[in-house]
Amino acid sequence: MNKIEIENVLFSPEEIRDRIVQMTGAIENDYRHQDLVLVAVLKGSVLFLADLVRGFSCPLAFDFIGVSSYGYSRTSLGVVNLEKEISINIRGKDVLVVDDILDSGRTLGWVKEHLQKFGPRSVKICVLLEKEVERVIEVKADYVGFKIPNVFIYGYGLDYRDRYRHLPYIAKLEEGEVPPGDIVDE
Ligand code: PRP
Repeated sequence: MNKIEIENVLFSPEEIRDRIVQMTGAIENDYRHQDLVLVAVLKGSVLFLADLVRGFSCPLAFDFIGVSSYGYSRTSLGVVNLEKEISINIRGKDVLVVDDILDSGRTLGWVKEHLQKFGPRSVKICVLLEKEVERVIEVKADYVGFKIPNVFIYGYGLDYRDRYRHLPYIAKLEEGEVPPGDIVDE
């Protein structure tokens, strides 16, 4: 198996860890005495969720929602399909949607609207990364780890052709580049 050489790191494991500790503290402070349910959007949010919840000292629940989105290449409108529904009853609960990145806003706009149908008390959004681009769907993230320019990134949950999600850091790819150690699929 090809070895991955660290290159073009945008956020190191230490930077990510330190920022997430701050985010956990801010969320815990805001949701004191509330019935908090985190709903993480598969699959990119998995590492972020795991590190975010680790620092909580109050009781909370978490669940997952699976969606797939089709961008401009598939349709000019963009379509989000539900692939996995939540399994916790969120009626009357305070919900915090957790995702790795807010980009066009299609995914989180759809997820927020979808979750409202279950009658939660509130729905807010927490992302590790917010791309500073014009949104296709207007979505406000209530908690943001880092703002980033419009670059292609991978690692720490984010994939490059389904791989590299496991990397403990976030790296960027320049136009035409492939990640170090990439495997060419047949
Ligand atoms: C990525 C990411 C966000 C979404 C953000 O998910 O995890 O959910 O795109 O982009 P948007 O704001 O333009 O909708 P993706 O659909 O690639 O699935 P994945 O999490 O399984 O990689």
